[in-house]
Amino acid sequence: MPEWIALGNHRERLGQTHLRDLFAADPQRGGDYTLRVGDLRIDYSKNLVTEETLTLLRALARATDVAGLRDAMFRGDKINTTEDRAVLHTALRAPRSAVIEVDGENVVPGVHRVLDRMAGFSERVRTGEWTGHTGRPIRNVVNIGIGGSDLGPAMAYEVLRPWAARELTVRFVSNVDGADLYEALRGLDPAETLFVVASKTFTTIETVTNATSARDWLLTGLNAGQEAVARHFVALSTNAEKVADFGIDTANMFEFWDWVGGRYSFDSAIGLSLMIAIGPEHFRELLEGFHLVDEHFRTAPAEDNAPLLLGLLGIWYGAFFDAQSHAVLPYSHYLSRFTAYLQQLDMESNGKSVTRDGQPVEWQTGPVVWGTPGTNGQHAYYQLIHQGTKVIPADFIGFGRPVAALPPALAAQHDLLMANFFAQTQALAFGKTADEVRAEGVAEELVPHRTFHGNHPTTTILADGLTPSVLGQLIALYEHKVFVQGAVWDIDSFDQWGVELGKVLARKIEPVLTGEVGHTEELDSSTAALATAYRALRGR
Ligand code: F6P
Repeated sequence: MPEWIALGNHRERLGQTHLRDLFAADPQRGGDYTLRVGDLRIDYSKNLVTEETLTLLRALARATDVAGLRDAMFRGDKINTTEDRAVLHTALRAPRSAVIEVDGENVVPGVHRVLDRMAGFSERVRTGEWTGHTGRPIRNVVNIGIGGSDLGPAMAYEVLRPWAARELTVRFVSNVDGADLYEALRGLDPAETLFVVASKTFTTIETVTNATSARDWLLTGLNAGQEAVARHFVALSTNAEKVADFGIDTANMFEFWDWVGGRYSFDSAIGLSLMIAIGPEHFRELLEGFHLVDEHFRTAPAEDNAPLLLGLLGIWYGAFFDAQSHAVLPYSHYLSRFTAYLQQLDMESNGKSVTRDGQPVEWQTGPVVWGTPGTNGQHAYYQLIHQGTKVIPADFIGFGRPVAALPPALAAQHDLLMANFFAQTQALAFGKTADEVRAEGVAEELVPHRTFHGNHPTTTILADGLTPSVLGQLIALYEHKVFVQGAVWDIDSFDQWGVELGKVLARKIEPVLTGEVGHTEELDSSTAALATAYRALRGR
């Protein structure tokens, strides 16, 4: 496309232009290159872009009709073409008055009906009105799910702990490694434990296996029969038939729909464990935060559109700086699982190598997304970002104030945390020249080691505080960023066929490992030898 070629030529002209030059040329750059969306202040001035870069990137977005696909998504068109599905997570946070149709039916009333049921159920659990089989109130909630049925609520529970009913124990089990369930159930009294089985399909082997083991634990612990399940198990799913097959009363099922992708589902019924923990009001604030950014993405002009901008910046670095990864570095302990959540959102969406009509792509698609909360990362891998050989664009996320729950002495540490936050993006952008190092009297042979080239691109996202609404805003920002990138790259961001092959092969290998199937000749020589070694280790 001419727009790609224009960007390539521009990249060549930009050459080795340093962020130091860009800031020197424009004293207002910091303020000018800042967007505000809801409670988020997004400073993108420390990116390797000029006005011309941004103009050319927006031309690329126009040429690839990002806005057209966006409007089709919000309208409920079936833009997930390989699965012939609408992509309507935005309907999950639409107000009651909205009208969004799929196959001629307005889906919004159904969304609010389920949200209201969830709210009613959450309140009953929180107040102790909902009791277990023996009449005792629920004190423990164990969410069993994986991928999109785990990462969202598990991440958000960590973020919103200050809003959670601390007397409730809330745990998340995802791994089919029995150790996960074992550790989660330790110390819990079955009579006071509610299992929330979250699975869009209700066929995911990890979740069904863990839920089956949890049911055994419950019934053994209570010395009860199947009738105890109804008070201790609820399901979050699109598949009522499989839920009933499992033995969960569909009256205890909270539904969602096939137009909600797994990794886009945590503001659907999948958020029930979180809602029980933080209460329906805070959950609604979270949804309002999502909706605010949805509306921004849908209506803001290209120049002010934050998801569009962040998406285009990522494309710029992937295509023209050969950036292979993208770091997300939150300066909040509560966001400890945020990047893990984004990994599924981004990598499962845009880890694709064919276009929507099945042709191999000839360009970079989704990056490796990684990161952990600052300042821990600073003492681990930041060295590579500062002085390594790779281009690693990074988002820094920080807050103006610590959460209200912190006692004053601990809240006082916030300034130090944020001093690190600002210092890192400064050091990454501007570095330290050899002359500056020499001026400090450093021995000549050490100068190269102590020189920081700088010019490492970062985006700073600053919000007043980390509230339910701000969390919703942040997630929607990244959801739509991923959307923008998928639209430009012409890939289907909403399917995930790549995870299927491993699942199919696991089903074939398991009987070989257990000894049910004695022979291994269907396996390649490496896997066959490993399976034999494993069987020996297990004494089979
Ligand atoms: O990993 C594949 C996947 O299908 C994800 O997209 C999904 O979030 C996860 O498995 C769990 O699926 P389910 O909610 O159907 O159990």
